Amino acid sequence: MQSEILKQIIEKRRSIYPKDYTGAAIPDEVLEEILNSANFAPNHKKTRPWLFKVFRGEEKTVLGQTIAELYKNSTPPQLFVEKKYRDIPDKIAKSNAVVSICVNFSGLLPEWEEIAATAMAVQNMYLTSTAQNVGCYWSSHAVTAQLGKFLNLEENQKCLGLFYMGMI
Ligand SMILES: Cc1cc2nc3c(=O)[nH]c(=O)nc-3n(C[C@H](O)[C@H](O)[C@H](O)COP(=O)(O)O)c2cc1C
Repeated sequence: MQSEILKQIIEKRRSIYPKDYTGAAIPDEVLEEILNSANFAPNHKKTRPWLFKVFRGEEKTVLGQTIAELYKNSTPPQLFVEKKYRDIPDKIAKSNAVVSICVNFSGLLPEWEEIAATAMAVQNMYLTSTAQNVGCYWSSHAVTAQLGKFLNLEENQKCLGLFYMGMI
């Protein structure tokens, strides 16, 4: 029964963190299926507002270093925590793929509608990851909001976090 399978996947879905990823590579076709599932999310006026960029390998390492430096540069010295500075690149290194979750505001709709549609796209990725035995979670670490320049975002675009993925 389709509904029984769907129920199982919905109820099995969990946020799974990089410390629990095996380090094995996510097969390309599996990663593609996860990303493709995002495109089936409902979206008002068909604006398809989600913008995802996949980071793997060296690019992923640079992403980790960039976030760590943004954290350092935007945190007053008395609030700076060395562990947090190291944690970000470490979590990124333990993930096999990291996807930046961004939204493109079309101007045709209230912003919340396009954020909501983007979140629905992320839920599709969570569910497809669950079905494929890929661990994942959405991180909305405050620093990710400062990734605009690194991600070449335009004025009407915003980064809502990162989607970490790894085999479990
Ligand atoms: C918009 C959004 C942002 C999130 N940001 C973070 C985050 O920054 N750090 C984190 O550990 N988990 C984050 N999560 C994951 C939640 O903590 C997680 O979904 C919640 O604990 C429930 O667990 P579950 O996903 O296993 O059901 C986020 C989830 C959502 C939907």
